[in-house]
Amino acid sequence: MAGVPENPNVDVDNDLHRALGPIHLIALGIGAIIGAGIFVITGHAAATYAGPGVVASFAIAGLGCLFAGLCYAEYAAMIPVAGSAYTYTFATLGKFMAWFIGWNLVLEYLAASSTVAVGWSGYFVDFMAKQLHTPIPAAFAGAPFAVQGFHNFVATGALFNLPAVALIALVTTVLIVGVHMSANFNNAMVAIKLCIVVLVIVVGLPHVVAANQTPFIPPNTGDWGSFGWSGVLRATGVIFFAYIGFDAVSVAAQEARNPQRDVPLGILGSLIICTVLYMLMSYVLTGLASYTTLNVAHPVSMATESLPATRWLSPFVNVGAIVGLASVVLVLILGQSRIFYAMSKDGMIPPLFCDVHPRFRTPWKGTLITGIFAALLAGFLPLDILGELVSIGTLLAFVIVCVGVMILRLKRPLVHRPFRTPLVYVVAPLGIIMCSAMMAWLPMDTWLRLLVWTVVGVAIYFGYSAKHAKPPRFVLHDAAPAAAG
Ligand code: ALA
Repeated sequence: MAGVPENPNVDVDNDLHRALGPIHLIALGIGAIIGAGIFVITGHAAATYAGPGVVASFAIAGLGCLFAGLCYAEYAAMIPVAGSAYTYTFATLGKFMAWFIGWNLVLEYLAASSTVAVGWSGYFVDFMAKQLHTPIPAAFAGAPFAVQGFHNFVATGALFNLPAVALIALVTTVLIVGVHMSANFNNAMVAIKLCIVVLVIVVGLPHVVAANQTPFIPPNTGDWGSFGWSGVLRATGVIFFAYIGFDAVSVAAQEARNPQRDVPLGILGSLIICTVLYMLMSYVLTGLASYTTLNVAHPVSMATESLPATRWLSPFVNVGAIVGLASVVLVLILGQSRIFYAMSKDGMIPPLFCDVHPRFRTPWKGTLITGIFAALLAGFLPLDILGELVSIGTLLAFVIVCVGVMILRLKRPLVHRPFRTPLVYVVAPLGIIMCSAMMAWLPMDTWLRLLVWTVVGVAIYFGYSAKHAKPPRFVLHDAAPAAAG
């Protein structure tokens, strides 16, 4: 392609459309990142675990993601094809590990998109009732049952979550029609949510009440993880959800115009911007209202409503959340369909997932199936249990990426690497340590669910994928020693 440096590693036959520039890619990252994590989960993390110290939790989680993000950037520039961590792992650690990571990415993308769609529905139902005075009947605003403890299901009286299903249907349609249109849609939504996040920060900062943040880290109650520094650490694992999605930039590498340069820029740029915004936003939130009051479904609008001077922000916050969460769902479903596309190209899942539409040039059947699964999950299942499962699966994928980058440096030092993780033997181990620690801080139930998920995945692997998988679709070429650096 004219103007774009050749990447000798990738000689795949690209049937997708290279339509995305650097701004699109940064917006894709921000589109996936800022959502339910900051608009919903922060309140729970502050009220239950960390108090105002949740600001430190955001800093620690952001740093862990930055280390993983630097490793992602090396891989993404080296192997800029669809599929992200799944594809990189296939190239470096073989097909079983690739399947294993692909299976965890289903948690990160598909399950997370459903979880966020349900969060979106909560804000939307509230908005319809309060701002437009058109309440949505409770029967169509929630899943038919809830879960208590590890596996006790109880009926809620609702039929299904109509707004969540409708959002996923809309997003799936946009994604099928074209990646360029989806990116433009996403750009507009990202612009709106960024403006509103910045508005809350700028208006809220001068009104922070010092008494609400004294002490900044409330004393530990005696139990590990309940306030004090252990609470800050436990909150890190919980609010990690807010960072999920920065790697979605790498999923779209095959649709980037200049992936070697722009994909690392998109990953690291969106991550750094969001870390700064999250720290400021959580500082404002815990400064406007006491952390003890924040364990609600709409903590950001609740906090702005608690002071007369910031009350006018509340409707804007609701609009920001509605638009923001919708863009997360869009990018996550985009990501999932591209991961399925790559897995299908490799024979790991049936071929219809990589069927590209002749006119739209999108993997439309895979996108449609992803949308149907996401809608079923969001419409009918209780998703409160899924949030932490999504986080643990994603963290595991990040650990494997950090390990893989080091292994490839040792095994293939001369491969052409347009972006090199700085101080890789420091950064990658730190990424592994921090992501493993965030996993360790999550509750035991979450680990058990991950175990069940893994057993199901391994059964599918041996039942189907191992028999149908093809060799990797591309070859990593060594550069001349001088160029390899
Ligand atoms: N990071 C995304 C969110 O917070 C998944 O909604």
